[in-house]
Amino acid sequence: MEKIIDEHKQGEALTLERKLENSKKLFIESYGCQMNFADSEVVASILANEGYNTTQNLEEADLVLVNTCSIREKAEVTVRKRLEKYQAVKRKQNPTMKVGVLGCMAERLKSKFLEEEKIVDLVVGPDAYKDIPNLLSEVEEGRDAVNVILSKEETYGDISPVRLQTNGVTAFVSITRGCDNMCTFCVVPFTRGRERSRDPQSILEEVEDLANRGFKEITLLGQNVDSYLWYGGGLKKDFDKASEMAKATAVNFAQLMDMVAKAQPKMRIRFSTSNPQDMTLDVIEVMASHKNICNYIHLPVQSGSDRILKLMNRQHTVAEYKTLIDNIKNLIPDIGISQDMITGFPTETEEDHQGTLDLIDYVKYDYGFMFYYSERPGTLAERKMEDDIPLEIKKRRLQDVIDLQREISRKNLLRYQDQIIEVLIEKESKKNKDEWSGRNDQNVVAVFPKGDYKVGDFVNVKVNECTTGTLIGEAVGYADYWYNNVD
Ligand code: SAH
Ligand code: F3S
Repeated sequence: MEKIIDEHKQGEALTLERKLENSKKLFIESYGCQMNFADSEVVASILANEGYNTTQNLEEADLVLVNTCSIREKAEVTVRKRLEKYQAVKRKQNPTMKVGVLGCMAERLKSKFLEEEKIVDLVVGPDAYKDIPNLLSEVEEGRDAVNVILSKEETYGDISPVRLQTNGVTAFVSITRGCDNMCTFCVVPFTRGRERSRDPQSILEEVEDLANRGFKEITLLGQNVDSYLWYGGGLKKDFDKASEMAKATAVNFAQLMDMVAKAQPKMRIRFSTSNPQDMTLDVIEVMASHKNICNYIHLPVQSGSDRILKLMNRQHTVAEYKTLIDNIKNLIPDIGISQDMITGFPTETEEDHQGTLDLIDYVKYDYGFMFYYSERPGTLAERKMEDDIPLEIKKRRLQDVIDLQREISRKNLLRYQDQIIEVLIEKESKKNKDEWSGRNDQNVVAVFPKGDYKVGDFVNVKVNECTTGTLIGEAVGYADYWYNNVD
């Protein structure tokens, strides 16, 4: 299973409103995490000022950009196939087309892309998007252009992203970039650099702008949102050296969420991703104290074995994680919880694997994103550990994990049977054009006949049937809170 929030969007070309004065055409597609999709919106915004409108037609593009992911080998293979496709189009139909690689693969494979795979004209790392206009001038003059320098400051806080392929209802707002956690399997700290937080003022402004434009739900986004810390700029690791004044006025994640929830009481607020070692209970307390912060938390754990967690450099034990989960459930009994798991990490035994299954059974997650271990170049695991678990065993363990999670997810959904849930309508159901699709507070998808409701409405839905992943019901009126009360 791929780790993606909007699975159907992977690789979809993104478009935005046309600027009449723009004459050049940009084809931009994204792979990987939600952060990449949010970054593509920043890039499209920068290029809209450089004369580019977006297109969904590769054959007519002047510039093709692919925002890439390095998390697992499979993600890289997918991108390579796309590059071959661009090459074919360039050869046969569109010889003047320029191609650029953005995102995590850019940093990792810059020289390879430019030297060996002549198709690529432009390579831009995740912190260099503001340099794209300069890089494009280089390309115009016939030179290859590359900037993969990672920054200690860049947060793109001053760029208001254009919303690509939007439903006009839900949007992602980046709050941190990079990650300092150095999990031994993970390439993110190398491809996206050090962790930095965005100025809360610019976050509040972006959210207000979205509210004014009719958006109803935002997801605060970062590789590790709980680690958010603003003290006037600078890296998280340098906080100790900050002045007393800066420390006293610093804003952490719980405070940021509280500020956003208070500023926009009629908007739903979500966040992703949390990391157990950085998650503190004040975040949960803020969630519990605001109706408009959704009762859903994505809390990756990766393994249910203390030995493996240690080898992964996850800074907590299984027991500590369980305590955290217990505390979360005590504070918010109807919380929805999801996980990320990796099977077949180096040296993983059947006993370690059983620990993972036991943990899933203990927490009874509502949903999971599960993967088998894929060795990533440059990571500590690659340098120090042998990738010694045979692929069949990795895959068999993954299947065990998926099967157990699926069974628990199905049982958990039954708690909504005959209940009334609040759903924000996002779009037409893919399966039935007479039905709306949206999510409840706990992030479960619900579908129901359209009636007179419209996209962007918050409605009460009575659940008549629970399938493996979706609730099927009927709307029974508007949801009171969102139209009448605010806290
Ligand atoms: N904190 C990040 C994690 C990014 S990676 C976030 O925003 O979600 C997403 C998930 O991919 C991880 O939680 C992990 O389960 C999985 N993953 C990362 N590196 C991996 C690897 N080398 N092999 C298999 N899965 C991996
Ligand atoms: Fe990767 Fe661990 Fe950070 S999974 S993104 S290094 S929290």
